[in-house]
Amino acid sequence: MLAPRLCPVTSCIWDVSSGSLVLRGNSVPPLESPMLAPWLCPVTSCIWDVSSGSLVLRGNSVPPLESPMLAPWLCPVTSCIRDVPSECCVRRGACDGMGREFLCLLVMEFFDYYEKLFGNRWPALLEALKGEGKATELKFGDDLEPYYLDEASVFAANALGVVPGDDVLDMCAAPGGKTLVIASMLKGEGSLQSNDRSPDRRMRLTRVIEQTLPSEWSGIIHVSGYDGMKFGLHKKESYDKILLDAPCSSDRHVLNSPEHLKVWSAKRVKRLSVEQGALLASAVDALRLGGTIIYGTCALSPMENDDVVKKILKKRPAMKSVQIENLLPGADRTEFGVHILPDQSEGRGPIYCAKLMKAC
Ligand SMILES: C[S@@+](CC[C@H](N)C(=O)[O-])C[C@H]1O[C@@H](n2cnc3c(N)ncnc32)[C@H](O)[C@@H]1O
Repeated sequence: MLAPRLCPVTSCIWDVSSGSLVLRGNSVPPLESPMLAPWLCPVTSCIWDVSSGSLVLRGNSVPPLESPMLAPWLCPVTSCIRDVPSECCVRRGACDGMGREFLCLLVMEFFDYYEKLFGNRWPALLEALKGEGKATELKFGDDLEPYYLDEASVFAANALGVVPGDDVLDMCAAPGGKTLVIASMLKGEGSLQSNDRSPDRRMRLTRVIEQTLPSEWSGIIHVSGYDGMKFGLHKKESYDKILLDAPCSSDRHVLNSPEHLKVWSAKRVKRLSVEQGALLASAVDALRLGGTIIYGTCALSPMENDDVVKKILKKRPAMKSVQIENLLPGADRTEFGVHILPDQSEGRGPIYCAKLMKAC
């Protein structure tokens, strides 16, 4: 019913910062039109901005993308949009039949951001990010549970080069995939502190350790719940090896979760990079002379990856960048580390990791 009236709409952006849905076009149906009512319900105000030719809908919330409410009022709009690049149609749903989906309109910022970063590579990378990952089974005994972990994550944990007898800190450890890899390298000798600030995720971490590892390996693991930023202050030069698998924008997960896509923003990427820098500084200070750090994320943006490493190398001159060897097929070398992206690495990743050593 709406289709004929909204066809002149040429673009549509969900502006997270202002909580607005902005439709641009040459004409829009009268706001009081009964036709508009069903699809304006969740919106608290609505302004027709003549100067920009936009209909600006403001609301505290937009209904969940799966909401049945959404389908009737959004499908006609999606069918009218001409300018939306096809690669941003990311979800199945009621609008499928029309060849476009509304979610793509909500998340233009995400797509614009990464399209600018990856250029011609973006469409293939986006497709790969939407696909299945490449997990491997970690199983350490017949009577123990298996754990499935992306091969790129296994690679990052292996790159730490842990040997039996090391004192290791896994600073952001939950739910525990990389802790399992590290524990399997220690083989019950040395110590492993598996730390995570989130109580819920820590419970999962503890369960994973108990269910997946033989007791002779798990016996040397101590689970803790500190803020990672405090290690540099309270545990100065205490560990031989530190894995910092930092909280990041988790773009693959975000892409496949409408709720997270709605809150994604370039500002958040920046904010996370500041947090990552503080965690890495803390890890550096907690590392013994001659020790090794792996800094890793599952983010796409260099701001959360190489840029964080570059800053720490400048701030802490004792730290040196070390090349990681024996790359997985399709992995890319970056200025300081390795980026494993699913379009070229058979579905693995995304994982970024960089190796740093503290000079003696
Ligand atoms: C990328 S996940 C870690 C995944 C984990 N290494 C694995 O392989 O299963 C990041 C973790 O960092 C934790 N975290 C975030 N901020 C933290 C902080 N300041 N201190 C400690 N942990 C933190 C989060 O709770 C989250 O579990």
